[in-house]
Amino acid sequence: TYVVTDACVRCKFTDCVAVCPVDCFHEGENMLVIDPEVCIDCGVCEPECPADAILADTDPLAEKWLALNRQYSAKWPVISAQLPPPQDAQAFKGLDGKFETHFS
Ligand code: SF4
Ligand code: F3S
Repeated sequence: TYVVTDACVRCKFTDCVAVCPVDCFHEGENMLVIDPEVCIDCGVCEPECPADAILADTDPLAEKWLALNRQYSAKWPVISAQLPPPQDAQAFKGLDGKFETHFS
């Protein structure tokens, strides 16, 4: 599977949703997650994210986010179409510590 990391927080560009061939993205208030049970591991979303927020689960940096993706994909609704990003999305691109301060 692929996973969404904290780099998505407050960015939510949703380019990933536009290219995903299955409905495995789920939307929370401040970030998206991938349902690992539905993702077919095609990899097309990864290079599309302007915030570089998507990693293959084989990436050592992805490990800590996999449980979060699994947990919240069970709670949040599926997002199946691209949406406009938040107005301040660019200001949050690349910031460290977004998860701690802005996840919820
Ligand atoms: Fe969707 Fe493919 Fe990305 Fe999985 S790897 S989330 S199936 S685009
Ligand atoms: Fe988030 Fe990147 Fe998708 S910022 S919504 S993972 S395109």
